[in-house]
Amino acid sequence: MKKSRPNLPVVPHHVAIVMDGNGRWAHRRLLPRVAGHRQGVEALRRCIRACAERGVQVLTVFAFSSENWNRPTDEVSGLMDLLATALTREVPELKASGIRLHFVGSRTGLSERVRAGLAAAEVETSTNSRMVLNVCFNYGGRWDIAQAAARVASAGEPITEESLGKAMSLAHVPDPDLLIRTGGEQRISNFLLWQCAYSEMFFSEHLWPEFDEAALDEALLAFAQRERRFGKTSAQVATSGSQALA
Ligand code: IPE
Ligand code: IPE
Ligand code: MG
Repeated sequence: MKKSRPNLPVVPHHVAIVMDGNGRWAHRRLLPRVAGHRQGVEALRRCIRACAERGVQVLTVFAFSSENWNRPTDEVSGLMDLLATALTREVPELKASGIRLHFVGSRTGLSERVRAGLAAAEVETSTNSRMVLNVCFNYGGRWDIAQAAARVASAGEPITEESLGKAMSLAHVPDPDLLIRTGGEQRISNFLLWQCAYSEMFFSEHLWPEFDEAALDEALLAFAQRERRFGKTSAQVATSGSQALA
């Protein structure tokens, strides 16, 4: 029987996810790693739908890191093919369900086919407003800080937290409230280094292809029970009653 959904007193505005564990999922089934990535796409579809249903406004997922180029070439090309296929297959449904897509990361090193697909998907969904989906592909937190600094410097502006923040690749959304990493590892792996300054962290033992609605609800429930202090005292937070930084 399907478990009923927990009653969440507060839903994070922005959820970020390190979708980890595809390779182990495949390995346990004696399948090639790319089969795990394929199953990972299914888990992502499920997660997008569940987040939108729960009122999450922004979902940011880590799909391919700057360091993932160091994997075996067949796995890298498998991941590129999977992205290209997913773009043609998934965009109509995302468009129909009100999801606005953004691709975040360096486009250097991506094939012309992939680059064109990313740009087209962004245009196709640009008028949607139900939920923003940021797909971090060829992304690294250090790359992001460096590209922001380079942009600010080339505009001749002083480097401040504000100017850098505006030049970061996720400047179109507020910082993540909740960062989930699946697959059991407890590290950031060069994900949103700047933006996660005050995100709540949740590490899930589930491998990404197995991450389902119940696993998502477990993370959302844990988030709802956290006290976010942003440097203040617990007593100050209790009087203001705010979950957000602003
Ligand atoms: C995450 O799963 C997907 C990518 C990094 C592209 P992994 O492929 O890292 O899976 P594990 O960690 O080897 O199980
Ligand atoms: C992080 O996972 C990157 C993505 C999920 C896209 P990795 O599997 O690459 O991270 P490490 O190497 O275990 O730190
Ligand atoms: Mg991994």
